[in-house]
Amino acid sequence: MPWNFEGKQVVVTGGANGIGLAVARNIAAAGGSVWIFDLPDTHPSEVAQSIGAQACVTDVADRRSIQEAFARVPDPSVVVVNAGIAPLRPFLETTPDLWNQTLSVNLSGAFHTMQIAAEGMKRQGGSIVLTASTNSYDGEPDLIAYNASKAGLLGLLHTAANELGPYGIRVNAVCPGLIRTRLNAASFSDQKRLGEYFKHIPLGRGGEPEEVAQAVLFLASDLASYITGATLPVDGGQMASKFGTWGKEGDRFDGQRWTRSC
Ligand SMILES: NC(=O)c1ccc[n+]([C@@H]2O[C@H](COP(=O)([O-])OP(=O)(O)OC[C@H]3O[C@@H](n4cnc5c(N)ncnc54)[C@H](O)[C@@H]3O)[C@@H](O)[C@H]2O)c1
Repeated sequence: MPWNFEGKQVVVTGGANGIGLAVARNIAAAGGSVWIFDLPDTHPSEVAQSIGAQACVTDVADRRSIQEAFARVPDPSVVVVNAGIAPLRPFLETTPDLWNQTLSVNLSGAFHTMQIAAEGMKRQGGSIVLTASTNSYDGEPDLIAYNASKAGLLGLLHTAANELGPYGIRVNAVCPGLIRTRLNAASFSDQKRLGEYFKHIPLGRGGEPEEVAQAVLFLASDLASYITGATLPVDGGQMASKFGTWGKEGDRFDGQRWTRSC
């Protein structure tokens, strides 16, 4: 294991599922004392117990709930700001309620988590990693509130990195592409759609939560000691593939990935 989190108190919001769970599991395996903050219906205590972590029932849309959760964590040194939702709705049908709900979890929730975390990290320094998205940069349809929230995270990232650097607190973000979690289970079961989607991914496939977790662990760890204010795409090259990569003669899609016969 190239990284060591021994002696570190680590918080992962949205850590009971998907990317957050992969992060929590890997950091716990690397010796970190991990705290999962998640909603009650995800049964965070049971999930935490199964990976040797602890949990606090937390709603990141509620500042007081985040404060109460952090009050239980002595001196956090790594905080992974990961909780998120992605309701699909065309722009013209996006209601004020859907807009407010998405922003309050994905963007305001991140602001509150980072501010409360940083207050607790000021004395000993630390590392904050945000789960942003390739959608921080693009305009995928039916996700106006999500895309705005993920673009907003870049503003939080840059400003917080700037202001928290003097306290020895690094702030970075991963920008995952399409990752196989419950958030997008429907996309992964539609093979026709996947085939079209993955044409724009040079590596020819979607990503797994573990692959995002490896990037988060790197940014969270001391191996990234001179990196702050950075975004790391974890997207199989999707953002580099402006006009698409696949679909040439000899390319084949097997339902999950594109391959090329050489
Ligand atoms: N899966 C992808 O393709 C993908 C791509 C880019 C970015 N992301 C981001 O990664 C993060 C994790 O998503 P995932 O794909 O693992 O989804 P997921 O649904 O598997 O996990 C999200 C977790 O966040 C928790 N959560 C939601 N609202 C919360 C709240 N108010 N308070 C506390 N916890 C809350 C959920 O309960 C869940 O455990 C999200 O921020 C998402 O936007 C995902």
